Amino acid sequence: MKKYKVGVIGATGMVGQRFVSTLEGHPWFEVTTLAASPRSAGHTYEEALGGRWVMSAPIPERLKNTVVYDATADIEKIAAVVDFVFCAVDMKKDEIRALEEAYAKAECPVVSNNSAHRFTKDVPMVIPELNSDHIRIIEDQKKRLGTKRGFIAVKSNCSLQSYVPAVYPLDKKYGIDKVLVCTYQAISGAGKTFERWPEMVDNVIPFIGGEEEKSEKEPLKIWGKIENGEIVPAAEPYFTAQCIRVPVSDGHMGAVFMSFKGEKPLKEEIIEIWNNFAGKPQQLGLPSAPKQFLHYFTEDNMPQTKLHRGLENGMAVSIGRLREDTQYDYKFVCLSHNTLRGAAGGAILLAELLCAEGYID
Ligand SMILES: NC(=O)c1ccc[n+]([C@@H]2O[C@H](COP(=O)([O-])OP(=O)(O)OC[C@H]3O[C@@H](n4cnc5c(N)ncnc54)[C@H](OP(=O)(O)O)[C@@H]3O)[C@@H](O)[C@H]2O)c1
Repeated sequence: MKKYKVGVIGATGMVGQRFVSTLEGHPWFEVTTLAASPRSAGHTYEEALGGRWVMSAPIPERLKNTVVYDATADIEKIAAVVDFVFCAVDMKKDEIRALEEAYAKAECPVVSNNSAHRFTKDVPMVIPELNSDHIRIIEDQKKRLGTKRGFIAVKSNCSLQSYVPAVYPLDKKYGIDKVLVCTYQAISGAGKTFERWPEMVDNVIPFIGGEEEKSEKEPLKIWGKIENGEIVPAAEPYFTAQCIRVPVSDGHMGAVFMSFKGEKPLKEEIIEIWNNFAGKPQQLGLPSAPKQFLHYFTEDNMPQTKLHRGLENGMAVSIGRLREDTQYDYKFVCLSHNTLRGAAGGAILLAELLCAEGYID
């Protein structure tokens, strides 16, 4: 099978490193091109990183001496030598919107981790197991952009990758009325390590800028429908969220309360739905798809961040402690790896879906 040539835009950052590291040995994708800010451009990857590499595996030997491109100035050059790019940059939102559109207009598909285009009406925001059908909107987007193969597809925020997959199949079967979630989010979600953020040692910070809005609003686009060339967000279920930064390196946990529209199902019925849930990535056998997406743990003290964030290469969601509540129908906890399923891994799975469905040739 052909190997797709892949560029990583923002390759020196936390998510960019995760792309580079995760894609080593990928059966379909080979990272051939790296780009970052003008500060890094012109340097080898190793020089540009300058000691910032934080992955547990070493920097891939074959990329150490690759010269880093300027993500903005070199768009045409990059588009000419890759099949598509992953994008994860720390820039202003309007700059990211323009940057990603410029790649798309240069006929280079963009699979993005950034939030800038999540609410662009013809840009699909996809959790591949849930709303893979939204990629059909790409045809409308290409018409707007005037492109043949260039487009933008995005993944949703890392905060919601644990509870949205748990709630979605229950809503489809029984109808969920409302969801209240408190998230306990790792410091890598801010692109940080304990060395670079010593205030987080032995500390909890009850604020993550913009996160609660994303956690409440983005699920409704995932639940949305394609109508007249746009994805129209759903009006419900109602989500309310409180997002808290906690002193763990990787892994976002959610404590969730939910109520059904009608009579609530039995606990055993909910667990059966979770354990048997499969989506398009499982049907297509995509390389990064977890075999079982949702895992329910029966032990009272599980899932635990340190023990379970790496389940199925960090691509599965762990759930536990489902029990009845006094004010909502049920409550439970859930966990997902924020830089794997929640960032690079989720985007890689989306890119695999786009290749398998013929959107990236
Ligand atoms: N960390 C997570 O878990 C997570 C999860 C989901 C989504 N995201 C999103 O992914 C994006 C990257 O996050 P991160 O945590 O990886 O950030 P990060 O570690 O701060 O890395 C930022 C990257 O952006 C590059 N950059 C900065 N200014 C630039 C410019 N003017 N032009 C081109 N490139 C520029 C940096 O290059 P230099 O090294 O040259 O400065 C670096 O490669 C953000 O939009 C973030 O919201 C992060």
